[in-house]
Amino acid sequence: MGTENASVFLVGTGVVGSAVLAIAHGATPPAHVTLAGVANTRGLSLVESGAISPDEARAIASRPASTEPVTITDDVLDALAKRASPVLVDATAADDMEDLYVRALARGIHVVTANKKPLAAPWAKRARLFDETHRAPGTKLRYEATVGAGLPVIETLKDLVRTGDRVRRIECVLSGTLGFVVNELDAGTPFSRAVAIAKDRGYTEPDPREDLGGKDVARKAVVLARELGSRLEIADVDLEPFVPASVKDLEKLDAELAAKVARLRTRGEKLVYLARIEAEGTTVRASAGPLAVPLDHPAATLRGSSALVAFTTARYDRDPLVVRGSGAGGAVTASALFADILKATGRT
Ligand SMILES: NC(=O)c1ccc[n+]([C@@H]2O[C@H](COP(=O)([O-])OP(=O)(O)OC[C@H]3O[C@@H](n4cnc5c(N)ncnc54)[C@H](OP(=O)(O)O)[C@@H]3O)[C@@H](O)[C@H]2O)c1
Repeated sequence: MGTENASVFLVGTGVVGSAVLAIAHGATPPAHVTLAGVANTRGLSLVESGAISPDEARAIASRPASTEPVTITDDVLDALAKRASPVLVDATAADDMEDLYVRALARGIHVVTANKKPLAAPWAKRARLFDETHRAPGTKLRYEATVGAGLPVIETLKDLVRTGDRVRRIECVLSGTLGFVVNELDAGTPFSRAVAIAKDRGYTEPDPREDLGGKDVARKAVVLARELGSRLEIADVDLEPFVPASVKDLEKLDAELAAKVARLRTRGEKLVYLARIEAEGTTVRASAGPLAVPLDHPAATLRGSSALVAFTTARYDRDPLVVRGSGAGGAVTASALFADILKATGRT
């Protein structure tokens, strides 16, 4: 481990990125981390030494939209690579970031991401990210924040796999948005209003239809299934949307969903959006969809936007290993990013 701080270049200044900035420039910033630069689609700033000032970071975050979106060129990466323990942090939901990651990793820049799209990309693209021949030696790609926000889901699963346990089933409530919406429905809030509140609180994907259609959960299921050695693709996930893509006006569902939730309550059941990954030998299957479960089911006891992941394995066969807690929001996701920065750069 070096003695200098890790040099972080943050890409994305939305809900998660602004929480990273708030923590980095707040009263109790994590030790051993220097924020060297910030970018979004509107601006980019990377300093050669020391830390970018809070004012400069704020200026990038509040810059007006530009007609020509910013690109992170090789020159920017070369400048970042010259700094001590450089780390590129992806706090975007952008498509096609794989190429940027490969260019960074090749230069010895660690990559830490909250963006699950590169991990759930078509297998060949994802495999390239993990191909050590494309990386400078010792360069790390870490992605704990992609599943369950700040919860230790990926690391727990990796530990199970690398210690020789056999994962048989992973059951999860992984959409902070859908969890929150269902809990609000239970409390009598109209569906369309519940979605608007979830967006206001920063729980939703930049495009909430990704949550409502189950696509965001399907991506997370793919990320988890691939930790089991599977080459599962998003199209392989047996997906039942919470809201079909054909529904454009959410208010049209208010009455129907309120009645459904009330009906279930009289039967002692609750609606949850559950993803399931089943592994049998080398075959891994994944599914996601709305399900009515008894009120004492662990998934029914979640509050707000909480997430739950239960691993049933050869060793945890009777009582699954359960990870649960807040599963969405800027601050908890930023925590996972900082933890990954420290782990990637050996500053633990
Ligand atoms: N919110 C959560 O609770 C949560 C939890 C876990 C993981 N995540 C993941 O974290 C990521 C960010 O989520 P968010 O809620 O913070 O999204 P967000 O509020 O929409 O912010 C996205 C940011 O990324 C920037 N951006 C988009 N494309 C870019 C590109 N090609 N190059 C540079 N910057 C780009 C945007 O720039 P502009 O500002 O210029 O538009 C914006 O600042 C997503 O992948 C999400 O799945 C979120």
